[in-house]
Amino acid sequence: MLSSHVRNGWYLGAWSDEIGRTLTRRWITDIPVCFYRLPDGSVTAVEDRCPHRKYPLSLGHLDDEGTLQCDYHGYRFDGQGVCVGVAEQADRPKAALRRFPLVEKDGAIWIWPGEADLADASLLPDTSWLTDPRWTHVHGVVPLKARHLLLVENLLDLTHETFLHPTSIGNAAVAATPIDVTVDGDRVGFSRRMVGIEAPPFYEKSCGLTSPVDRWQDGEFHPPGIFVLHIRVAATGTEEPEGFHMKVLYGMTPALGNETHDFYALARDYLIDDEDLTEFQHKQQLAVMQEDVDALEAQELMYATDPGGTAESSIRSDLAALRGRRALAKMLAREQRGNVPA
Ligand code: FES
Ligand SMILES: [Fe+2]
Repeated sequence: MLSSHVRNGWYLGAWSDEIGRTLTRRWITDIPVCFYRLPDGSVTAVEDRCPHRKYPLSLGHLDDEGTLQCDYHGYRFDGQGVCVGVAEQADRPKAALRRFPLVEKDGAIWIWPGEADLADASLLPDTSWLTDPRWTHVHGVVPLKARHLLLVENLLDLTHETFLHPTSIGNAAVAATPIDVTVDGDRVGFSRRMVGIEAPPFYEKSCGLTSPVDRWQDGEFHPPGIFVLHIRVAATGTEEPEGFHMKVLYGMTPALGNETHDFYALARDYLIDDEDLTEFQHKQQLAVMQEDVDALEAQELMYATDPGGTAESSIRSDLAALRGRRALAKMLAREQRGNVPA
C-alpha cells in the first residue's frame, strides 16, 4: 500500500522507559506496531497483525521465555518472530512476523518502518546529551490530531513563538530577527541570533537573567521525523560558552491517518540537580506544546476541508519550513519510485 508518509527513515518509536515485558501497540506511518522486550532486555518491534487472521498481537500474551502468543487462535512466535507452533495441530504453520529495524540508544527507541535493507544507524543525529551526566532532561510524548507536515513546519518556523507563545518563550524579537537557512542533502538547518533583546519570561525564570540578553536558536531537521533545537541564552555581551545551554528534541512520528506522535525531550546543562527548575521547565514545555497542539489541530481542520488546496501565501521566514516540505516530498517521491535514498 502506498503511504503518504516517508517510511525509509528513522522515527522515534518509543522512549526506552515506555517499553517492558508487556505488549505495547503504537501506530507508526499507518502501520500497527507491537513493541516488547525479550528476556535479555533487548527490544523488539513487530507488525501488530497476526499472519493467521490479522488479529492484533498486542492483545495477546508474552511468556517468561519471550514467546508471543496470539490470543485468537493461539499461534506462538519466538523472539525472532518465527512461528513455533499452534495448539490445534502438531506441525507448525509456516509463518513469521515482520520485524522492524530498531536502534535503542540514549533512552530512545528508533524505528525504521520502511525497507529493512536501507536502515542505516549512521543517519541518526547525536542524542548523547540525553544520557550525558553533565545534562539533565525531561521527556514524554503528546498525541497530536494533525498531520506530520504541520508539526515539521511548526518547528522549522519558530517565528510563530512571537504570536503563539507570547507569555513564555516568544516576544517581538523572534519575529523581527531573520534566520539563516542551510540545506545539506535532505537535512535542513536554520539559525537565528537575537542580540541585546528583552528576555522572554521562560528564560528570565529558568536562567535568572534580566534583560537585555542574547539568544541563539539553531535548529536541525533530520527528515523525515527528527528535529533538534540548540538553544543558548546569555547576558548581553557574555560570550556564548558562558551562557545557558538547552537542547530540545522532537520526534515527529506519523501515527494513523492525519495523527502524529509528538515526542519531546528538553535538556539543560546548568543547575542539573535543581528539581524545582526541572519541574518548572517540564510544565512550561507541556504548556508550550499544548499551544502548538491547539494551533495545529485548528490548522488541520482547515487543510482537511480544503483538499483542492487554495493558494498559500509565503514570506521570508517560511524558508526553512518550505525547504523541509520539499525534502519530505523528494524523499516520498524517491521512495515511491522504488529508489534508495540519496
Ligand atoms: S488470528 Fe492470530 S492465531 Fe488466528
Ligand atoms: Fe511552538
